[in-house]
Amino acid sequence: MSEEKIYRTDDSRPLVELTHVEKHFGDLHVLKDINLKVAKGEVLVVVGPSGSGKSTMCRTINRLETIDSGDIRIDGKPLPQEGKELARLRAEVGMVFQSFNLFANKTILENVALAPIRVRHMAKKEAEDQAMELLARVGVDSQASKMPAQLSGGQQQRVAIARALAMHPKVMLFDEPTSALDPEMVNEVLDVMIELAHEGMTMICVTHEMGFARRAADRIVFMADGQILEEASPDEFFDHPKSERAKDFLSKILTH
Ligand SMILES: Nc1ncnc2c1ncn2[C@@H]1O[C@H](COP(=O)(O)OP(=O)(O)OP(=O)(O)O)[C@@H](O)[C@H]1O
Ligand SMILES: [Mg+2]
Repeated sequence: MSEEKIYRTDDSRPLVELTHVEKHFGDLHVLKDINLKVAKGEVLVVVGPSGSGKSTMCRTINRLETIDSGDIRIDGKPLPQEGKELARLRAEVGMVFQSFNLFANKTILENVALAPIRVRHMAKKEAEDQAMELLARVGVDSQASKMPAQLSGGQQQRVAIARALAMHPKVMLFDEPTSALDPEMVNEVLDVMIELAHEGMTMICVTHEMGFARRAADRIVFMADGQILEEASPDEFFDHPKSERAKDFLSKILTH
């Protein structure tokens, strides 16, 4: 039996696994011995002060950033260095960023249908049908023929989620998906994320939305200075943070 086959038949292995990951930007040590396992269907929320390495960690998981040393595996497979394998890996990892990075010169429907056609060679009609289904799922199917600039931020961010889902990712990464939104639009995006979580999607979410974290997270990871300082259930983390850094962080974030 090939190694690959053993991986595929093992349901108990983590879907995402980071082992001894190290990363520097020049002299700056941004990820320090990061060890993290995310199980299939788990919702992990990553919190921590600005500059602690949350985005960098996310970006290493779909290899938007390289790492200096250590190992990152998705579904048992090490991250490929480049080429076709890397494109395939990226397709397995959906990512939604803070800024709405839709293609400005394509319609909403085209935004969601494009990657399945180009990367997965899906027939146009099939990709568009799937796109309409996904847009309905995130509640913006009535906007399908519009251009991104004609949509609100909350709607655009829901389209970005639909676009990521169109590739049937094994895991979804969210990096502060609501922090650029007007307050009244935050919940419509969080609601979509909560629904995804309930449907069993494996999710890694960097967010300052502590209500969402409490409600949706299976586990909280607290990062500071490039390290994972705490890993706990939401109740444990919010009610009984252990480190001074986490206590300090929570006192700041929960009081304003
Ligand atoms: N491309 C880069 N080149 C140099 N330094 C970088 C780069 N990207 C990030 N950094 C630095 O790495 C550190 C970690 O940044 P990162 O964006 O991962 O933090 P973060 O926890 O996501 O912060 P925030 O909450 O503000 O988004 C910061 O000091 C940041 O300035
Ligand atoms: Mg960040």
